[in-house]
Amino acid sequence: MLRRISALVLAGLTAFAVASCGSEGGGGTGGDAGAGGGTDDTIVMGFSQVGAESGWRTANTKSVQESAKAAGIELKFSDAQQKQENQIKAIRSFIQQRVDVIAFSPVVESGWDPVLNEAKNAKIPVILTDRAVDSQDTSLYKSFLGSDFIEEGKKAGQWLVEEYKDSSDTVNIVELQGTTGSAPANDRKAGFAEVIQADAKFKIIASQTGDFTRAKGKEVMEAFLKSNPDIDVLYAHNDDMGLGAIEAIEGAGKVPGKDIKIITVDAVKDGMQALADGKINYIVECSPLLGPQLMDLAKKVVAGEEVPTRVVTEETTFTQEQAKEALPSRQY
Ligand code: AHR
Repeated sequence: MLRRISALVLAGLTAFAVASCGSEGGGGTGGDAGAGGGTDDTIVMGFSQVGAESGWRTANTKSVQESAKAAGIELKFSDAQQKQENQIKAIRSFIQQRVDVIAFSPVVESGWDPVLNEAKNAKIPVILTDRAVDSQDTSLYKSFLGSDFIEEGKKAGQWLVEEYKDSSDTVNIVELQGTTGSAPANDRKAGFAEVIQADAKFKIIASQTGDFTRAKGKEVMEAFLKSNPDIDVLYAHNDDMGLGAIEAIEGAGKVPGKDIKIITVDAVKDGMQALADGKINYIVECSPLLGPQLMDLAKKVVAGEEVPTRVVTEETTFTQEQAKEALPSRQY
């Protein structure tokens, strides 16, 4: 560990260590909380994950953990259970432990400046992964690695516009938003709205958060179905909420993919299976496999090398036919 000496000095002061950071993920490398388990030049990364709310998140956690191992980076992993206060506690703990680099996926966009300033003052570089923060001061982090969520929302809207290009009837849309205040919820909503607003026949008749979970997606879709008898389209900000909504639609005696067309984001295996089965109509990919690029960035940042301030993940889209082809080799 590069900061072993200072970490040893601080060890007595950092009694609460990473184990006190909300729910500690089982995926850490198991080194002692103070000084890490590697040789003196092993890089130690403190990683604060959002939680385990979706199939996407599970795949992302696996990618980060496996890539850290492959890169010889010691990972101190903390699961925030979708709570910003847990992420702030975890980051403060990483600062006290003098890790070499901090990476995190911010549960919401706002409210990070104080803790990011603490990391900056401690001279510990920060890398944002998956989700952005809305800080005006971009010197608070070295790089942001992740998807272009606005583009994802636009792709969802473009499919819809194409799908209904020959119809002049009103298209009633319900929207299941991701976690309130999160970058993917804000941006996927904005990108989608920007595209469909060009044609007045598209109407969003209900829009509510399903917190990116299957259970909440089902619950909110049940409520949508009760109060809106004429839903044509569901736009869900992730596969999990879409899959929960499918259960609600079937429970209401309707056929998902036919009576109600469904667009989701992510393209995890369960979502791709539902797409191949005709229950979802279109999926915009959001790749969770960020681990290898994150570890490369971490090595460069710790070595003092310049890194790009923004690294955008490459992604595609899937129709039902494309899902059938892609499923056998889908990694997550
Ligand atoms: O930030 C990425 C989003 O978070 C994924 O689309 C969603 O499934 C996850 O929970």
